[in-house]
Amino acid sequence: MTNNADVGIERIRELLPEISRIEEAKLSDAVARIWLRAWRSSAWEELASVPKSVDLPAKRTLVTHTSAVARIAGHMVDVLAPAHGLTISKDRTLAIALLHDVSKVAEFEQSPSGARASRAGRLYQHGFLGAHWMEDEGLDEELVHGVLAHTPVSAVVPQTHEAVIVHYADFADSDVQLLDAGQRLFCKRRA
Ligand SMILES: [Fe+2]
Repeated sequence: MTNNADVGIERIRELLPEISRIEEAKLSDAVARIWLRAWRSSAWEELASVPKSVDLPAKRTLVTHTSAVARIAGHMVDVLAPAHGLTISKDRTLAIALLHDVSKVAEFEQSPSGARASRAGRLYQHGFLGAHWMEDEGLDEELVHGVLAHTPVSAVVPQTHEAVIVHYADFADSDVQLLDAGQRLFCKRRA
């Protein structure tokens, strides 16, 4: 029998097929459940409507950005691990990439002109809620660290290969979109 949670998880896996590319089932399920929690904590009826940023055109969605960051990060693991003889976990990189901005579902809300920062978005530093939900799911501190450290507002510098990769994958996808919109690029921001 299907219940609402199953429908929600199914929709999330449909929007973000990269979740199913995480081979460890427990980790893949945890990522999907955290997205469901984020969605349920918000007033967004359609997850695909959540924007990437309140400053970018609405067509720039969080789901598209998250999917692109996960795919870029996956390719970076494929290149960097063999190039430098490093052991870098594809599963863990994908999990961090897929969750790095999940807090935006709650940090943004619909407004008459599109979207704006919600009360939580104004009160909490970007990334905090995602990290909190990850802790609640029992994900380990290096995964939580990857999400906390991805943003320029973090005082913590990425300290695992997986976290470094997601940080740059996020900048790559963000900056091509910002350039297209005529906005200031992340790569030259200090905070
Ligand atoms: Fe991002």
